[in-house]
Amino acid sequence: MRAIAVGKVTASNNPKFAVGDHVTGLLGVQEYAYSNGQGLTKVDSKLAPLPLYLSTLGMPGLTAYFGLLEVGQPKAGDTVVVSGAAGAVGSVVGQIAKIKGARVVGIAGGADKCRYLVEELGFDAAIDYKTENVAEALKTHCPNGVNVYFDNVGGDILDAVLTRLARGARIVICGAISQYNNTAPVKGPANYLSLLVQRATMTGIVVSDYYDRAGEAAMVMAGWIQSGKLKTREDVVDGLDKFPQAFDMLFSGANNGKLVLKVA
Ligand SMILES: NC(=O)c1ccc[n+]([C@@H]2O[C@H](COP(=O)([O-])OP(=O)(O)OC[C@H]3O[C@@H](n4cnc5c(N)ncnc54)[C@H](OP(=O)(O)O)[C@@H]3O)[C@@H](O)[C@H]2O)c1
Repeated sequence: MRAIAVGKVTASNNPKFAVGDHVTGLLGVQEYAYSNGQGLTKVDSKLAPLPLYLSTLGMPGLTAYFGLLEVGQPKAGDTVVVSGAAGAVGSVVGQIAKIKGARVVGIAGGADKCRYLVEELGFDAAIDYKTENVAEALKTHCPNGVNVYFDNVGGDILDAVLTRLARGARIVICGAISQYNNTAPVKGPANYLSLLVQRATMTGIVVSDYYDRAGEAAMVMAGWIQSGKLKTREDVVDGLDKFPQAFDMLFSGANNGKLVLKVA
């Protein structure tokens, strides 16, 4: 099973990696991995706890950073809406948008996650899509419309946000988790003509396009973490045998922050 992991070198014929080094890369869901060193990056367990290199200082953090800043391009005073807001990507998107001076509204499932977004991460408002009418709540929380929508979920929530776009809005298509398990075709946005009326754009982001700039983003985000501007949360499930249950948590929303499986 393909997965990005952090591991410890236990044997090496490669002069770039010594026994005891910690590395991250596509090592898979397994206790031991074999690599020729290509695509592996050394990480320092003294600078940050290892799970952090799989969350904010790893792939999800890079997705949030470049997806928001390069594609979403929020300006101070903009209203930024993010779905999957309490997750690994969404929670970082919202906090970076706050750092850049935007008003931030998160969409997440459940009162606890919504409270976390506002009280702990400093979002301006949060919408519980499981109990609230998202379109109505967006009217309340985004009176001047939505300038940037960072979409992690697709489906009905994307459709609701489309009805609230401001002129020139940017939609960042990062994921569509509400559609991943569809057995029927993926549901496209019925309200897409809003893009026309509002002269808006919808652009996909694929994190690997930015891997050559990973160091730049990790350095900035490490600084924000150190100064307390950026909070990060990892949800660690212990045991390789828990993989199926852990995977399911992503779809039930049982994870809080970046879901990490500890295999050894
Ligand atoms: N484009 C890229 O390069 C890239 C890179 C990384 C990740 N992604 C995508 O980014 C998205 C977020 O990833 P992540 O790692 O941050 O995951 P995550 O948020 O840590 O976990 C998934 C969350 O999605 C929410 N969810 C599940 N089913 C849902 C549904 N039917 N409707 C609405 N929300 C639902 C749940 O939160 P609630 O409790 O709030 O429902 C769940 O906790 C995913 O779609 C992923 O595929 C894209």
